[in-house]
Amino acid sequence: MTVYAQELKAIAQSMVTRGKGLLAIDESNGTCNNRFEKLGIPTTEENRRAYRELLLTTPNLANYISGLILFDETIRQTTKEGKPFAQVIANLGMIPGIKVDTGAKDLAGHQGEKVTEGLDNLRDRIAEYYKMGARFAKWRAVITIGNKIPSDACMLANAHALARYAVLCQEGGLVPIVEPEVLIDGEHTLEQSFEVTDQTLHSVFNQLHTQGIEYDQMVLKPSMVIAGQESSHQSSIDAVAEATVKCLLKNVPATVTGIAFLSGGQSNEQASAHLNLMNERFYDQCPWPITFSYGRAIQQPALDYWQGDSNRVAEAQKRLLHRAKCNSLASLGKYNPDVERELGYG
Ligand code: G3H
Repeated sequence: MTVYAQELKAIAQSMVTRGKGLLAIDESNGTCNNRFEKLGIPTTEENRRAYRELLLTTPNLANYISGLILFDETIRQTTKEGKPFAQVIANLGMIPGIKVDTGAKDLAGHQGEKVTEGLDNLRDRIAEYYKMGARFAKWRAVITIGNKIPSDACMLANAHALARYAVLCQEGGLVPIVEPEVLIDGEHTLEQSFEVTDQTLHSVFNQLHTQGIEYDQMVLKPSMVIAGQESSHQSSIDAVAEATVKCLLKNVPATVTGIAFLSGGQSNEQASAHLNLMNERFYDQCPWPITFSYGRAIQQPALDYWQGDSNRVAEAQKRLLHRAKCNSLASLGKYNPDVERELGYG
């Protein structure tokens, strides 16, 4: 138990408030630039700043979004008028958060596998981010399904790092989002996805327990149990919802504050439909709220429309708000395809 316990509990609960979820805008400069390049948007610091300003100042975003995850460059940036982003987010009634890992690097001795780095100086970085206004953090571990992988070494190394990060966050006053992502890339079946997600979550919670985490002061950000994107057997919405909830119930302690999924490359509509069905069918059986912490599945239509043009900001914001609303409804089990057609975006 840290001096921040009460504050952390309250923040974690606000992050998964019923009907709200998180918006991830924490792409590293490399990832953000790749997405800009695909659309012919110049990859400048000013364009990254302008794009993040567009996202976080979207009118009425706080109706659907509890908090935003920022990147190191972004939390140091300001609006055109010079107001720090973290302050703007808080003034709009949302919680600023920060990605603190420094990326997934090749795992030595294990070809095709990654381990996430960022523990060096993490205590000091957490203190700095806290001063800047961040109240939660994120660390993403990546597990790949393939020929004879994931290895035990990869799962253990990632789970250990996640647990070390999470306890440091709680010590420093940030709610940790623990994100073990089993990648959707590959030809694997839904059953293989289940097996790997099961092992991964088991390993992560074992390490969290060993390191002394407080479950009621954290948010889990898992991937859904789903067939690989190149699999010849694509999963139905029902199968994904059922297998995902089964896997979570098997592995996630009831006292964990909440679950907020990543979208991981699912289409916008799939990400909403899967989340919706989980809430529609299994809400009563789950001890934790189940919501979203999506990046691409909320941002993409806004980015596609914006194209780096300041005259397109207002319409891009409407597209962002639309996806935020779809996912808010999905977190209540009230999403349906008619909502997609609203505003003519479906
Ligand atoms: O770490 C991943 C992001 O926070 C979520 O992004 O929804 O595009 O997978 P995604």
